[in-house]
Amino acid sequence: MCASEFAPLAKTGGLGDVTAALSAYLHRSGHDVRVLLPFYSSIKTDELNIYPVDFMQGVEVSLGAHSFRCDFYVTALPKDGTPVYLLHCPALYHRAGIYTGGADEHLRFIMLNRMVFEMCQRMGWAPDILHCNDWHTALVPLYQKAVYDWDTLFSRSRSLFSIHNIGYQGTVGTSAISELGLAGKESLLHQQDFASGQINFMRTGILYADVVATVSPTYAREIQTAEYGMGMEEILRARDSSTIGILNGVDYDDWSPQADSLIPRNYDIDDIEGKEVNKQVLMREMGLEYRPGVPLIGLVARLTGQKGLDLVAEVIPALLKRRDFSFVALGSGEGRYADFFSELQRRFPGRVCFYSGYNNKLAHMIEAGADMFLMPSAYEPCGLNQMYSLKYGTIPIVRKTGGLADSVQLFDPSSGTGTGIVFRDYNNEGLWWAIDAALTLYQDKDAWSTMMANAMAMDFSWDKQGAEYVRLYRAMLRSKN
Ligand code: ADP
Ligand code: GLC
Repeated sequence: MCASEFAPLAKTGGLGDVTAALSAYLHRSGHDVRVLLPFYSSIKTDELNIYPVDFMQGVEVSLGAHSFRCDFYVTALPKDGTPVYLLHCPALYHRAGIYTGGADEHLRFIMLNRMVFEMCQRMGWAPDILHCNDWHTALVPLYQKAVYDWDTLFSRSRSLFSIHNIGYQGTVGTSAISELGLAGKESLLHQQDFASGQINFMRTGILYADVVATVSPTYAREIQTAEYGMGMEEILRARDSSTIGILNGVDYDDWSPQADSLIPRNYDIDDIEGKEVNKQVLMREMGLEYRPGVPLIGLVARLTGQKGLDLVAEVIPALLKRRDFSFVALGSGEGRYADFFSELQRRFPGRVCFYSGYNNKLAHMIEAGADMFLMPSAYEPCGLNQMYSLKYGTIPIVRKTGGLADSVQLFDPSSGTGTGIVFRDYNNEGLWWAIDAALTLYQDKDAWSTMMANAMAMDFSWDKQGAEYVRLYRAMLRSKN
């Protein structure tokens, strides 16, 4: 399993949650899973026992004109024992954050892709499945087929490329070609991209992986269209028979109101008053005025256009004037959205609070303390927060796209079925309707309790979703030539 993120060591969003929880599932099911992750200087090491792997020290690697020295370390996650190999290369990974957006970003991840093979060779160990994730590890399938094809160690290995977000493709100018180290096989790169001066990591992964997966069935279909494919639609259509959508799971040890150690009071469906306690503590700590019967809407997100924040900026200020509710937002990312939320807090003191930054404890407290969770995404490959919200009885207000469409069902008061509020069209009217409907429904105590009970009963555990991956891995191994 290789990826740029792996929770809790390195996480900016759901990618880290998913690589960690799937690996943990595989590990506890008895599979031999070994994770490779850059040893970012931001990884907190105090609670980890980290050992150098003695036969994997001082590995010299040249990427084009650049030479690096790498050392491998290994640790077992305290929580579940999953083995994680850490790729130590200070020249590349001792930076302020996981991602830098800098001119050598591609080098940082080319190295990771190459080291998958260098590590396995040194261990004399070939995985059945090379599972790579997003553009940062999308070169693994090509490297297997073009650079390490001489090594029979890997002849039985199959590659799976998981797309968590097609919005980040990893592109670099063709002048970086020598840094890829393709050993005379450069013509395997997508020629049209190349002609237009680009190397696109994501497209390379889609082209060469034995199987392409994405994180929900609906997103698997959506990215084959021009509306959602971001230029990858054609090649994804061409690979349709080797593409699959598997909905992400949730790690309920971390994310359930019964077990969560980061919230003031644990609760469950039979002890729902506990939720109100969480709401009071959250509102007090965030400087919001608690008034019984007035709903609190929460939002936790990377602040980017993907999350529907342009609609939020258009709709929430007007709604705050028209209806009685409070709003708490947590996020980091683009300044224009942070500015919007800061301004909103200033305009509606006591009713709106914005925490700018990354704060895991607060994310848990919002899931537990809010009545509703807002996720009006423009696109959403899977989305985890809406699934967390369901378990916490925090009614998700979502747009019908990607994994949101696959995990939240519109509540129907006449039949009492459904788990949240779902709107279809990405426009102000759609979002207005959805929030307005949620606020109205909140006043109908019976309907609201039914919807909460339906939501909390949903089960997206990794025991279910992980089994789907194992079925896929096995099918991949059966189909090998
Ligand atoms: P994405 O991967 O697109 O960011 P997901 O819904 O799949 O969206 O996952 C987001 C994950 O990141 C969740 O675990 C969420 O709690 C977490 N998260 C996002 N922003 C923050 C933040 N500012 N502070 C703490 N956790 C955050
Ligand atoms: C991405 C997507 C999100 C998904 C996560 C984990 O960052 O934006 O929808 O849940 O990856 O797969």
